[in-house]
Amino acid sequence: MSWSLRLSTATPHASRKQLIVLAVVVFVIVTMWLFFSQRKPSELRCARGVGEACAPVSPAFRDRTKSPAERADNLLSYMTLDEKVGQLALVEKNSVHSMEDITRYGLGALLSGAGGKPETNTAAGWRAMVDAFQGASRNSRLGIPLLYGIDANHGHANVPGATVFPHQIGLGATGDPALVERIAEATAKELVATHIYWNFMPSLDAPQDIRWGRVYEAFGSDVSRIEQLGSAYVQGLQSDREAPRVIGTAKHYLAAGSMQWGTSSNSKFSIDQGQTPPDERALREAYLPPFRAAVEAGVGSVMVGLNRWGNHHVASNHTLLTDILKRELGFSGFVVSDWYGVYEIPGGSYRATIKAINAGVDMVMLPYDYKPFIEDVMRAVSRGEISQQRLDDAVRRILIAKFALGLFDERRDESVSVVGAPEHRALAREAVARSQVLLKNDGVLPLSTSVKSIAVVGSASDNIGRQVGAWTVEWQGIDGNWLPGATSVLQGIREAAPKATIMHDVEGNFAPDAQADIGIAIVGESPYAEGWGDNERPELSPQDYEAISRLRRHANRVIVLIISGRPLLISAELARWDALVAGWLPGSEGSGVADTLFGKSPFVGTLPVPWPASAAGIVDKEISPLFPLGFRAQ
Ligand code: BGC
Repeated sequence: MSWSLRLSTATPHASRKQLIVLAVVVFVIVTMWLFFSQRKPSELRCARGVGEACAPVSPAFRDRTKSPAERADNLLSYMTLDEKVGQLALVEKNSVHSMEDITRYGLGALLSGAGGKPETNTAAGWRAMVDAFQGASRNSRLGIPLLYGIDANHGHANVPGATVFPHQIGLGATGDPALVERIAEATAKELVATHIYWNFMPSLDAPQDIRWGRVYEAFGSDVSRIEQLGSAYVQGLQSDREAPRVIGTAKHYLAAGSMQWGTSSNSKFSIDQGQTPPDERALREAYLPPFRAAVEAGVGSVMVGLNRWGNHHVASNHTLLTDILKRELGFSGFVVSDWYGVYEIPGGSYRATIKAINAGVDMVMLPYDYKPFIEDVMRAVSRGEISQQRLDDAVRRILIAKFALGLFDERRDESVSVVGAPEHRALAREAVARSQVLLKNDGVLPLSTSVKSIAVVGSASDNIGRQVGAWTVEWQGIDGNWLPGATSVLQGIREAAPKATIMHDVEGNFAPDAQADIGIAIVGESPYAEGWGDNERPELSPQDYEAISRLRRHANRVIVLIISGRPLLISAELARWDALVAGWLPGSEGSGVADTLFGKSPFVGTLPVPWPASAAGIVDKEISPLFPLGFRAQ
């Protein structure tokens, strides 16, 4: 029965009573409505009943019209201690015990350590893997997405079929910021297609000693070249300062390029993870400027080197990380530690963690176990050994990056078909051609495309694994022809001179009377990464030398093309060669090398590092190099 019916049939006395009841009911309804509508929705989703950590249903941090900083501040206000600590953890994906752990600990980020690939190693397989991890993080109370980081050192080379650009040393040889920017942009697109928005590049190391196994990861040793190319890379990768496509990582902070031979903290290495002389002038003049430029270009993160500055690990150095990087350079992104670096700080893992975070490390890379880390930080914060303010600052920096990247919102996607796309391969080919450095030419180059016969020898002549080097699907790379979609230098030569008779044998074992107009020896190093590439005497193998001398018996003119991550000691042999080209580690597009050999593209590359004349000259900079920094033969 409706109230109107009841009122119309009621006596005046009953009607007054009913009116009172009605008024009471209306009052109750209105009060309840007011209560629920005014009530902080935050009380609807609380963390284990902790009042101040409750999050509203439609909190301000979900509002994309607000700035990343405003959103981060709002989100921080709802976070519990354990949620904050979880954000500091960057865990290697193969060490994640279970998907539930991602949700439970609210892990801030995951990475694929080199070679950390999905079961199905395709672009779609990567995307599915990252999505699954992301799904687990969004299931956490506040639904904070994770960052997924990777080493896309020379393109998204972890995915077979991706475009593999020249390693950074080759890009250094081009000296061309606009080209580097386009390459970084293409790399970002291939990363986005697999839903990865964080690249541990560019390397801003300025290697001074070619015996180091990481020379090729850098743009060279010249500080101004690194400065220019590093910031171009950051711009290309991130594209938009306010809303980056992918965030970059300036690494390895600081002065890793001046580590000294014989100082490595790893007994298997000689120079990698070693000691940098504590020379503040050199630090400011030779190593800091590229980081300053990267910060000015808005780089999202900075990775701390595994080196020691004098006797102290950079990862525990407050002056370098906070006073110089964050305060003096004004870096507002987040600082991430490298691999096991934090735990190499002396004093045990608890003390090491405290030292690193208090020095300025915001996110800790955890290749193995994350639970002890989380417990240690929780304990340190509750004891005041890490202040609440430092913790909040670290979390805020990380959250700002996530908001700026649009991880909380709908992002612009890329199709997986962009991975290895023809336009990216064409760009890589152009970069390869521009990275070739002509070191000697007795009039033999460029070759005519109508040359009648060519003999080709050498370990890198038809070996994609050597061309692409390490950080390609596997950390240490894989020697041999195995990468889909790539073109070897030999294939490139065949395409460039389709009418020529080409004889090919890696070792140069041709029929005794076989003769060619031109001999091309494509020789060099086998792949290596990090300390495994530390080498006291970088030089050609006896097999490659043997192949070159056999080639001389079958060809009138001999061109030597070196495929390597660094200069090799060749002075004793140089006089016997008619031409010499440094091809670096060109990547998947071997045709780019042929483009310069046959004059389709001019030789424009210049030496990004001096080429030592002898082993003594590697260390003693007073000894004249065989070819100086910036050299190119005419
Ligand atoms: C390297 C870093 C790299 C990290 C993650 C470390 O061993 O030093 O350059 O970004 O691994 O793979």
